[in-house]
Amino acid sequence: MKHVLVTGGAGFIGSHLVERLLSDGKSVVVVDDLSTGSLENLRTVEKQPNLRVITAKISACVELPGLVAGAEAIYHLAAAVGVELVVKSPIHVIETNLHETEVLLEAAAPARVPVLMASTSEVYGKSQKAEFSEEDDLLIGPPHQSRWSYACSKLMDEFLALAFAKERALPVVIARLFNTVGPRQTGRYGMVLPRFIAAAKSGAPLKVFGDGQQSRCFCYVLDTVEALVRLQNSAAARGEVFNIGGGEEISIHELAKLVIETLGSKSSVEFVPYSQAYAPGFDDMRRRKPLVEKLARVTGFEPATSLREIIRLTAAD
Ligand SMILES: NC(=O)c1ccc[n+]([C@@H]2O[C@H](COP(=O)([O-])OP(=O)(O)OC[C@H]3O[C@@H](n4cnc5c(N)ncnc54)[C@H](O)[C@@H]3O)[C@@H](O)[C@H]2O)c1
Repeated sequence: MKHVLVTGGAGFIGSHLVERLLSDGKSVVVVDDLSTGSLENLRTVEKQPNLRVITAKISACVELPGLVAGAEAIYHLAAAVGVELVVKSPIHVIETNLHETEVLLEAAAPARVPVLMASTSEVYGKSQKAEFSEEDDLLIGPPHQSRWSYACSKLMDEFLALAFAKERALPVVIARLFNTVGPRQTGRYGMVLPRFIAAAKSGAPLKVFGDGQQSRCFCYVLDTVEALVRLQNSAAARGEVFNIGGGEEISIHELAKLVIETLGSKSSVEFVPYSQAYAPGFDDMRRRKPLVEKLARVTGFEPATSLREIIRLTAAD
């Protein structure tokens, strides 16, 4: 029986995807170097005979050619992720996101194994549009601001994947994920919702960076996983780029207040300048809202979980 290969399968989104694939009756092989992921994320499924976890970088995984050849599909989620990591370790981020994807696509090309690649809404960069569509022009900040290296490296991954689709007939689909949240997401690398929930639970102030008027749309991780599976299984999605994200837009200040209210916390909200939170000259986007018509048209997917419910489910983790 062929397996499904999940790179980054011990990460936040990857581990939920692995659980889903196993419950669908698939055999799953995970390749993860545990740089930001953890075996703890796979605790609920670690004893399942249909799961094999290989702890290695993609590029250092000696079994990779055989694993790819024996795969019915590949989900490529491994990446260097998180604003803090991007600002502090840009070399690591650029090298990981470019090199590891290239190695994976090269391995997948001969047998033409379908690859779903996780990209990011960060590629929309500083675009001022109210809603982002897959066909939009992209406006990335200058290279001396290292936070844009994440967007650029993931965008190069998109170019490379589509180039493999065109030149080598590799079936690829690109999922541009907007803010994805839920149980197991760690606040360690600067992710906002787990930071807020941890602070609200302990009674510490919720630290809002900047003026808090920057807004985002949050999608529950199991909704995201549903969209990923539908895209991978859709022939019409091949060679295409899709936004995946929640529909409810909320400012970060409002999010902090909603977390406090939903969890009945006594915490306060504290504003921290970006220069102090990250680095002088840190550049953020004011809004980041996806247009998801294309995803709905091709897969019938719509996010199902409200933000209040997401906060409850994540806090219960
Ligand atoms: N969480 C979000 O809101 C979000 C938003 C946009 C895009 N994404 C994308 O989704 C994917 C998964 O992100 P996540 O939030 O689950 O982050 P995560 O850090 O939890 O997952 C990434 C996983 O990849 C692994 N990894 C990193 N480099 C590796 C390498 N060279 N070889 C093998 N494994 C490696 C890490 O150990 C980790 O388990 C990433 O590609 C990310 O860019 C996530």
